[in-house]
Amino acid sequence: MENGTSITRSGDSLDKRLTEGEDSTTITTRQGHPVKYNQNIRTVGNRGPATLENYHFIEKISHFDRERIPECVVHARGAGAHGYFEAYGKAGDEPVSKYTRAKVFQKAGKKTPVFVRFSTVNHGGHSPETLRDPRGFAVKFYTEDGNWDLVGNNLKIFFIRDAMKFPDVVHAFRPDPVTNIQDGERIFDFCTNSPESIHMITFLFSPWGIPANYRQMQGSGVNTYKWINDKGEAVLVKYHWEPKQGIKNLTQKEAEEIQGKNFNHATQDLYEAIERGDYPEWELYVQIMSDDDHPELDFDPLDDTKIWPQEQFPWLPVGRMVLNKNPENYFAEVEQAAFGTGVLVDGLDFSDDKMLQGRTFAYSDTQRYRVGANYLQLPINAPKKHVATNQRDGQMAYYVDMAPGTNPHVNYEPSSLGGLNESTSSSQDYTPHVEGKLIHESVERTNDFKQAGETYRAFSDFERDELINNLVNTLSSCQPHIQKRAVELFTKCDEDYGQRVAEGLKKHANQMNHHGPAGASETKEAVQEAEHNGH
Ligand code: HEM
Repeated sequence: MENGTSITRSGDSLDKRLTEGEDSTTITTRQGHPVKYNQNIRTVGNRGPATLENYHFIEKISHFDRERIPECVVHARGAGAHGYFEAYGKAGDEPVSKYTRAKVFQKAGKKTPVFVRFSTVNHGGHSPETLRDPRGFAVKFYTEDGNWDLVGNNLKIFFIRDAMKFPDVVHAFRPDPVTNIQDGERIFDFCTNSPESIHMITFLFSPWGIPANYRQMQGSGVNTYKWINDKGEAVLVKYHWEPKQGIKNLTQKEAEEIQGKNFNHATQDLYEAIERGDYPEWELYVQIMSDDDHPELDFDPLDDTKIWPQEQFPWLPVGRMVLNKNPENYFAEVEQAAFGTGVLVDGLDFSDDKMLQGRTFAYSDTQRYRVGANYLQLPINAPKKHVATNQRDGQMAYYVDMAPGTNPHVNYEPSSLGGLNESTSSSQDYTPHVEGKLIHESVERTNDFKQAGETYRAFSDFERDELINNLVNTLSSCQPHIQKRAVELFTKCDEDYGQRVAEGLKKHANQMNHHGPAGASETKEAVQEAEHNGH
């Protein structure tokens, strides 16, 4: 592996002496004992029973028993690749330094190594990659100032705007806790009671809900961040990745056809493209807003259920990313990779986006549980620069993060005995003033339906047809009161949207009515009500 992330022990430091009967390919135990019997356990006679002192067998099986670590609680199914990010030195036509002092962006042509993990969200580590589900797009930049993680998704918005609701939205999309079956009724029960999700639902049930593969997929930071310049001034910023390979999505039918033959198609597509030298590439764009609450907008810039209109907030290219190397060990590099929204470098900052703030706690919390307290000592997660901390010990501590020449007896700070010291950086601090009452309230400009309606109208005919079909298929298994609420919400987004879902449900119910199921009359009620509301 490049950049010091070697995952095998270097032979140079090892004692190369071999015992009798051993050569360099001889299998050994982890204690270095050559293994003579790797086919049969030791037994009393050739028909058993086995004996407990089978040291090699017990070590082999008990290590195997521990091969898995807990999967990521979300985004369990992933594929990864190494590459680099190359800065343009500009944000659109302006020097990028006007907005941020982050070194990773400053100099045109400057390359920073990256590792990217793409993922699906809701199902397990070997679930099909054809599911209707958002896709994760997480990038770790190994910058000279330490790591920066941009943990995004393919779609530009999210289901909810407050971190408090994250476990609920995930539970609703996950299999039923009793039957272990994913259930459209649970999804629409939650979503129709959380109207802020309707915009995301509109994307998810359209072909945008099943990207064809990872290479032909967009990415977005989704949440609002800040950039800080040399003067300590801030702007609000959103990030977007645009694939040079173009964008490709699948219809439900296309996805089902692929799924019948291959449940790894996206991982395979990425791996094989990189192996044949067809390196995927994305351009990174930012949208910038001044750092205030923008009362002139009909949405809150800190609300991640909203898109920042491109006409008002143009996409400014700031660099490009190329993925040119596959992992050598899936577990070490992809499964143990740990990304987090708190992992920022000088010149990049958080905004008050309430999702972002909740996320920032969750990532390292889960990684300490999932990978272990010393997850940042693993090569894939460790920065490729000087690290010196007074953190010690813990499970699987592999080395001491100590600067050469510092006193190993001092693992505290401050000290006058030659320990570590604070940085003397002269960079201008960013010190926003914050005041207000502590409350539990949503942002004021919720405006849950306008952008969803715009998205619906912006779709091509084929995308709208797919959306309606997919919604009707899922909603038709829901109880009438959930169907009714869904039709009301879609109608608030766009008259035609609600009407078509209602008609689709009615048609479906009529077809079923031949066989006499309940529910058709209530669906009719929902249609009539939508008509009555003048929609
Ligand atoms: C993974 C929490 C919202 C994108 C995760 C993980 C957690 C988590 C616990 C597992 C991390 C691991 O095991 O290493 C949350 C919480 C959220 C939230 C609490 C809301 C409050 C979002 C949003 C996005 C997102 C809005 C999209 C921008 C991702 C991605 C991963 C991930 C891409 C996978 C990272 C990887 O490849 O390892 N999230 N998440 N999450 N989340 Fe979120």
